[in-house]
Amino acid sequence: TAAATALALTVTAGAASADACDDGEIVVKFSHVTNTDKHPKGIAASLLEQRVNDEMNGTMCMVVYPNSTLYDDNKVLEAMLQGDVQLAAPSLSKFEKFTKQFRLFDLPFMFKNIDAVDAFQASDNGQAMLDSMQRRGLQGLGYWHNGMKQMSANKPLLMPEDANGLKFRVQSSDVLVAQMEAIGGSPQKMAFSEVYGALQQGVVDGQENTWSNIYGRKFFEVQDGVTETNHGALDYLVVASVDWLDSLDADVRDQFLTIMSEVTDARNSESTKVNNEAKEAIIAAGGTVRQLTPEQRQAWVDAMKPVWEQFSGDVGQDMIDAAQAINA
Ligand code: LMR
Repeated sequence: TAAATALALTVTAGAASADACDDGEIVVKFSHVTNTDKHPKGIAASLLEQRVNDEMNGTMCMVVYPNSTLYDDNKVLEAMLQGDVQLAAPSLSKFEKFTKQFRLFDLPFMFKNIDAVDAFQASDNGQAMLDSMQRRGLQGLGYWHNGMKQMSANKPLLMPEDANGLKFRVQSSDVLVAQMEAIGGSPQKMAFSEVYGALQQGVVDGQENTWSNIYGRKFFEVQDGVTETNHGALDYLVVASVDWLDSLDADVRDQFLTIMSEVTDARNSESTKVNNEAKEAIIAAGGTVRQLTPEQRQAWVDAMKPVWEQFSGDVGQDMIDAAQAINA
């Protein structure tokens, strides 16, 4: 099967596998969907793996499975609750089955940049959201940054009207569905691993993502160009199951969580740089990047922002107000 082949290739390539862990070590499988290079999450996951395996050798053994080689994001949280995987970092858009609180982060033009996202997450409101799924068996351990999203399609996008009638891939978020509908597009929820093929074959016409994802998955090669809209944030929740965390001895859990928080701080401060480098790499590879005039950008704001009203009941007007106070 494809999965078995992928696994065989991974093993042949000498990538880490759980077989490399010693008897008696707590095996931590960390499943994610992006590439490892020039990518904020990929780099952070690799650093976490390296530090856990260096500093907790003999106690804990982490194995990272990138590139959707273990699970897609729509499967990974169920697998976690079954105990088949211990760590994941899906985007905040992918928790709808568990909580509607994170919809705040998907609302278009809610945050002007990742520093504003960071400040909200660090606030009491943001920290309380880490615990919002405990009842469902999931514990947020921290937020990892990717960056702001850009729009791309198989034709130039300068005004929101240019998106009229186009099919757009979105992550599995009803907010993002509403956002694409607000500009006259037809949104289609789809796993990250399927986007390149869908763009290439014309199943969808366009998509939105960060520079690092557009570069890492080569979306720019099968699109007319990318428009720098910075219209929304794509950020991650590092998540584990409550049961698994409870199963760890307190000193082991403390050491693990300390490493986690140090890696989070170290890599979050670099995420904007990583995305800017991915943007430059797209341009260097011949990809087209378009800028908006202030008037054009305002037209996107005017078209998309009414979406807030549709979801203010889910996220709470108080949260929107708190986010806007931080964003000011
Ligand atoms: C996406 O599905 O586009 C992203 O959530 C992928 C990722 O993990 O950055």
